[in-house]
Amino acid sequence: MKGVILAGGTGTRLFPLTKVTNKHLLPVGKEPMIFNPIRQLISAGITDILVVTGKDHMGEIVRLLGSGSDFNCNFTFRVQEKAAGIADALALGRGFANGEKIVVILGDNILTHSIRKYVDIFKEQPSGAKVLLKRVGDPERFGVAALDEHNKMIMQIEEKPENPKSDYAVIGVYMYDPQVFEVINSITAAARGELEITSVNNWYVEHGTMTYDIVEGDWMDAGTFESLMVANQMLFSIDNTIKKGDG
Ligand code: DAU
Repeated sequence: MKGVILAGGTGTRLFPLTKVTNKHLLPVGKEPMIFNPIRQLISAGITDILVVTGKDHMGEIVRLLGSGSDFNCNFTFRVQEKAAGIADALALGRGFANGEKIVVILGDNILTHSIRKYVDIFKEQPSGAKVLLKRVGDPERFGVAALDEHNKMIMQIEEKPENPKSDYAVIGVYMYDPQVFEVINSITAAARGELEITSVNNWYVEHGTMTYDIVEGDWMDAGTFESLMVANQMLFSIDNTIKKGDG
């Protein structure tokens, strides 16, 4: 399996912190934010990693990450021309994935515990996709999963709903079979003018091939001032290490 980290976007919610730099280079604990998703993929045994970012900050990202030798992994880089959405950024990974399954992590998603066990389960899944969920107090900020009455299956995912059907946020870690690139080609831009990853995920939900797991440990989307501060404390307190988890 291969890994993809999406580190583009404009980071407007963090202005002026992101006026001259990329959100994923801001400090979280003792390291730049993007180190956490990199460490996550490596903890899951994934060492072939594509990093997608915009042209304004690609230079700094490459200067920070290099070839991957510091992490014992291999980086590939691709430029997203415009911040046209998460699914638009992922579409750039088609050639890199080259027919393999992929694990995608949004560069601002911070986790304390390894995703390894969920990746291992997905390796055995014959086809389809997997999302990871976390119970939160403010689901309206995220993609939200409506589950069936036995909590066995996801019925639908709604992007930032005014009236969330559950308090299960879909976190920014997604696993896909190679068909995902066809799915991206088939979706259209949503209300905010972007190609939404939730539209991609709902395709798999509708086709009955979406599975989910609930993540262990703490999770934070570090894209706002408040969540960035919490993510900072979260990783500082564990010295930016990733816990193995119970799997
Ligand atoms: O953090 C989890 C949430 O992330 C999910 O619950 C939502 O369903 C999902 O849509 C996403 O919501 P956000 O509003 O937080 O997405 P945001 O626009 O902040 O983008 C998240 C990351 O994706 C960002 O750190 C970099 C990457 N990105 C985003 C865009 C729009 C790109 O690489 N290119 C892009 O064009």
